Amino acid sequence: MIEIKDKTVYCQTQNTSYWFGINDYQHPVHYYFGPKIPLQDVAPLQRDHVVAYGSSVELGYLYSLDQEALEISFSGKGDFREVAYEISDLKQDALSHLRVTKVFLNDHIDFPKAFFYPRITDSVQQVVVQLVDDYHPIRLELFYTVYEEEDVILRHQRIINEGADIVLINRLMSLQLDLNEQGFEVITANGTWGREAQLTKDRINSGTLIHQSRTGASSNLSNPGLILKKPQICYGFNLIYSGNHYNSVSVNYDGSTRVLSGINPQTFSWNLKPQESFETPLAICTTGHTEAQVSNHFHQFIKNRIVPTAPFPKPITYNHWEGTFFDYNHKKLISFAKKAKECGMDLFVIDDGWFGKRDQDNCSLGDYFENTNKFPQGLKNTIQQIRDLGLKVGLWVEPEMISEDSECYRQHPHWVVGKPNHLRAKGRNQWILDLCQTEVQDYIVDHVGRLIDEYQVDYIKWDMNRHHSDQFSCVLENQKEFDVRFQMALVSILRRIFIERKHVFLEMCSSGGNRFDLGMLSVAQQIWTSDNTDAMDRLKIQEGTALFYPLSVLSNHVSGKINTQTLRKTSLSTRFNVACFGALGYELDLNLCSKVELDEIKEQIEFYKKVQELILKGDFMVTETDNPNRVCWQVKNGKQALVGYFGKMNSGLQPREKLRVLDLESQTMYSIESKPQRLMLDQFGELLKHVAKFPIHPYGSIMNLLSHYKTIQDGVFKTSASGALLAQGIVLNDLYLGTGYHESIRLWGDFGSTLYVVKEIENET
Ligand code: DGJ
Repeated sequence: MIEIKDKTVYCQTQNTSYWFGINDYQHPVHYYFGPKIPLQDVAPLQRDHVVAYGSSVELGYLYSLDQEALEISFSGKGDFREVAYEISDLKQDALSHLRVTKVFLNDHIDFPKAFFYPRITDSVQQVVVQLVDDYHPIRLELFYTVYEEEDVILRHQRIINEGADIVLINRLMSLQLDLNEQGFEVITANGTWGREAQLTKDRINSGTLIHQSRTGASSNLSNPGLILKKPQICYGFNLIYSGNHYNSVSVNYDGSTRVLSGINPQTFSWNLKPQESFETPLAICTTGHTEAQVSNHFHQFIKNRIVPTAPFPKPITYNHWEGTFFDYNHKKLISFAKKAKECGMDLFVIDDGWFGKRDQDNCSLGDYFENTNKFPQGLKNTIQQIRDLGLKVGLWVEPEMISEDSECYRQHPHWVVGKPNHLRAKGRNQWILDLCQTEVQDYIVDHVGRLIDEYQVDYIKWDMNRHHSDQFSCVLENQKEFDVRFQMALVSILRRIFIERKHVFLEMCSSGGNRFDLGMLSVAQQIWTSDNTDAMDRLKIQEGTALFYPLSVLSNHVSGKINTQTLRKTSLSTRFNVACFGALGYELDLNLCSKVELDEIKEQIEFYKKVQELILKGDFMVTETDNPNRVCWQVKNGKQALVGYFGKMNSGLQPREKLRVLDLESQTMYSIESKPQRLMLDQFGELLKHVAKFPIHPYGSIMNLLSHYKTIQDGVFKTSASGALLAQGIVLNDLYLGTGYHESIRLWGDFGSTLYVVKEIENET
């Protein structure tokens, strides 16, 4: 609900309030953002302006912009903080003075058309603040869009050149939030390839903390999601944008905190021609008492308003990539497909290498014709055979890229990003296609569209495997427009391909999570979380990603026994227990799996299908554990919960362990049952000769053969407890210590884990 009263704007969502107003100087000032409060006069939230700070630069009597909580800031009039708006004319005159001329409730929802935006319903409202710049013929509009049900406010800006000359936009952030308080911890998800979304907590007491991307994508270095945390209040932010972003948090000498978020001004400027306008991407902001509440608001908003609804229940995917890399052909794929189907998987993805002469990563990007060595009877034939097995079929593409050794490059050398006839940097042996050229956009739309239609694929994995460099396009006048123009072109390409092909399930990927953002999620149902599929590393990667994004969009695969990135050996059960917190898939050489491993996979999939709705629609949270060697996740929906309890390094005699499950109904009784899981014999080494009924070499060929057919069942745990008790913690069954065996013992070793299903017991209190 939005109410405009006198000069105050009250934005109320179900659980939060965002209030701002226009002061006597016609500046938009911030009053309040936090848990919902009833509408009232804002006087108690206003500064009294009766004394001046020393060193103040004043615009009026005792009025200094540097000490005001502003909704938009500009430089040159005494605000010495980082500003949200900076434009100049061709003489570099960057002096500005923005003043509000009008505030009104919009009769329709205006969103930036060149970028993605969320779905709108009747309950969504928008207020617009119109400003003029005293020194430039500019109209600026600040938009506040209120998603009442999801407790989210969206911010963006539009600038219109009403003059006769070009105006240069040097920076235009999507969001500015000035909070009259300090002492926040800033939580961000940073990393690199294979180590994405590592949560970082920085306490900021003064100065500016910047989290940004300059790689041409939202990047694996610094995700655009941001949380500000204090004991009683948290604020969360994110951008619906996939290009270079910039988030800064500054603490001022007067104890206020300024947050700016938007397109990275360091890699951006824009020639705004007469009568043209420029709109920023949308920024999301939300608030809550705790980090978990803010995370939940993000999740609900993304699930309800951003991610396109899936065309069919999320498929359990088989992707052969880690099982084969480029070394595959028709025969191998069909043998995998048969096993994938037997195990209960739904979708078979043919990854990189099906086209051109691509048997390694140095050629053929940009070419869309089949690799005839791999598919002598044609790719269509392979696809049909897979489909005849009862599987849906998906294809990998990397449309934004071009290989030097490709037909595409030989025919269109001028399509490559960068200065022609100069050395252009390669990443993973490839260059970038210049999407700013309309010919290039059409080429991608035509080829990917044709591929989907002709091969009748149900799913596309859209990859993008390098950071941008050589940002230069022969069609641009201002090369600092490159990054944003590239993003606009990408949005347009994706819209043109997928809006009319809503039946296609789209998974985004960028060397794993290099472009895990709300821009991509506006068109794709999920994103490949990381190329690193090691279960232990994934604990951190998935936890960091899940703080900002719902589990339903995290694509996680169970890969081989010895991880290809870390060389760590992890049990099949733990690999599944971690991967199942998201959209599940398998990515290993199924021909190398023993009978018992295939049986285990089959059971995992049966289990997953039963709890899939809970995982994909439920509320996820991380529960704190007493033991630093343990990680505990829970996802809860209505009357049930699934808890993942994970161990890292084992040691002799681990302290007794408690399992906590939070946010259940305290008076209600619940059953708690561990998911049965098989453990492979090779995990037990020489102990096997003590349990065998006949003399046997624990590492010999008989044992090896036996391990294909026999397993050991992990200890089973079953109990019941009230929600109140579960919140305090229940005592878990013992862990194996080496002193004896009992069927209830957890046989974890290093990297062990268990899933617990928690269900309400009907009719009991
Ligand atoms: C990077 C992706 O993240 C992988 O899953 C795989 O698709 C490769 N690209 C293929 O080149």
